[in-house]
Formats: sequence, C-alpha cells, structure tokens
Amino acid sequence: MTATEGAIRPAHVGAEPVLRTDYQRSIASYWNAERAPVNIRLGEVDGLYHHHYGIGDYDPAVLETRADLRDEAMIVEMHRLETAQADVLLDHLGDIGPNDRLLDGGSGRGGTSFMAHQRFGCRVDGVTISESQVAFANAQAVERGVADSVRFHFANMLDTGFESGAIRGIWTNETTMYVDLHELYAEFGRLLTRGGRYVCITGCYNDVTGGRSRAVSQIDQHYICNIHPRSAYFKAMAANGLVPINVVDLTAATIPYWELRARSSVASGIEDAFLTAYREGSFHYLLIAADRA
Ligand SMILES: C[S@@+](CC[C@H](N)C(=O)[O-])C[C@H]1O[C@@H](n2cnc3c(N)ncnc32)[C@H](O)[C@@H]1O
Repeated sequence: MTATEGAIRPAHVGAEPVLRTDYQRSIASYWNAERAPVNIRLGEVDGLYHHHYGIGDYDPAVLETRADLRDEAMIVEMHRLETAQADVLLDHLGDIGPNDRLLDGGSGRGGTSFMAHQRFGCRVDGVTISESQVAFANAQAVERGVADSVRFHFANMLDTGFESGAIRGIWTNETTMYVDLHELYAEFGRLLTRGGRYVCITGCYNDVTGGRSRAVSQIDQHYICNIHPRSAYFKAMAANGLVPINVVDLTAATIPYWELRARSSVASGIEDAFLTAYREGSFHYLLIAADRA
C-alpha cells in the first residue's frame, strides 16, 4: 500500500492544503518516516500501536526475567503501561453512547481510536497530518473489521472541515505541542456539541516556578515540537468556551515508565531529559478534561 492509499480526506477541505506551513510539512515528514522501535515493537505485542508514554508502576519481576527473555518482557510491560495511559484518557470522556461521535486529534497509528471504539461502540474519526499513518491506521481498521466505524483522515486538526457541533468527545493524546492552542481550541469549540467533552494528555512546562528548562528544551529539539507552558492550556480553553472539569497530574505516575524505558533496548536517547525534567519539577504530565459551554 502506498502512503496515500486509504487516506480519506473530509469532503470539506476543497482547495485548501492540509499542510499550510513549513513547520507542519516538517512534522508530517517526521511522522511519515518514523519507524522507531519503541513504537513498532510495542505495537506488535497486540496490534495496538501507540505513540505516547505510559503510566503506572511496572512489575519489577520483568527485570529479574531470564536474560534472553528480559528485553521482550520489558517491551510487553511498557506496552501495558502505554495502554493503561489511553484507558485513563478514555475514562475521562464521560458517558459516550453508541450513537455519539468521537474525534482523535493527531491520531498516530490509531491505538487510542481503536480502544475508544472497543469501549463505546461508536464512530471514531482520527485526523493526522501524516499520510503514512493514515494508510497504516485505515489498514488496521480493515483488519479489525471496524472500517465502517473507525476512520482515519489526512487532515489538520486546526481545520478539520468536519461539520460544526456534531462531535460529543474529542481527545488529544500527546499532540498539542505541535500546534497553536488558541487555533486548536477554536476548532474544537466549533466541533463539539454543547456539553461535549474534551480530554487532553500532554507534557507542559511549569511556568509557575520558572521558564523553559534545559531538559524541556532538549525534549522540544528531539521531537521538533514546542512544549507549551501549563497556564497556556487554561487560557486557550477559557477563551474558546472549554471549561475544565478535571485536572490530573500524572507526572509521578509516568516516571516508572521512563525508568523502565531507559533500561530497555528501545530507549531512544531522550529518557534522561524526561526523567530530569519531571524530577526537578520543570515539566508536568497532565490530563485536562473540559466541557464545551
Ligand atoms: C506523539 S504522536 C501521538 C499519536 C497518537 N495520539 C497516540 O497517542 O498514539 C503526535 C501525532 O500528532 C499528529 N499531528 C501533529 N500536528 C498535527 C496537526 N496539525 N493536525 C493533525 N495531526 C497532527 C502527528 O501526525 C502524530 O500523529
């Protein structure tokens, strides 16, 4: 399958290009080319591909596993923690029925979207600016027999083109550091039904005690992203009719994942920066749930 096959574009977009800036083009190229073992090998465990981090304690027994089996045991355990993270995100979406619609903003290879469909039985649309991710995730939807209900689109979450007020729940799982939050929440405010829920899991830097730390800058550079300060989320939500109902600091819960990952064969070299930033308090791993007023 080529990169563009299976890339369903919402009918709306007309002549507007999905990628509008050099920055967006560089992010799309990054994700089109991305084959990181930490994403692929973990996904192969059970076919749910995540590009986000994990939460919860790891089972220390994995480190005692026989040497020739230890690496695989660590990979299975990290995957379990990444799936647990997506479960916590979905727990915060509230009551979603089979006739509701959900949107996954920056859907990656589709892991969280498939979990949402499995849990709520409803239609899920995922949007990503990576055409190879769209093709991969749509092929997975066919393989899982859910292609009628779970669809991935080559579309920009800042301007999805979906109809206004039709979506009951939207989430972003580690994608907001690639976009302007005001533009993003203006679009989500438009898409959500009144009382609809938005859930975000993100890393954000601590602007209560200072500016962007060295470790946070290293993370930005590694992923070509622009980590926002904590306060920016609440300002942009308030400006766009999104009223927080729950804020959960997941920082302590994600540290064990990073400790395990740092010891694994799929470490990517950024583990120390995450551990430093979390431990020194310059960076938080937050879940924010907000309702559309
Ligand atoms: C770290 S990955 C997270 C993927 C997925 N949410 C997950 O949890 O597995 C970031 C994703 O954001 C997407 N992305 C970045 N900027 C975007 C934009 N402007 N519109 C849509 N997707 C975007 C990337 O293509 C990629 O799929």
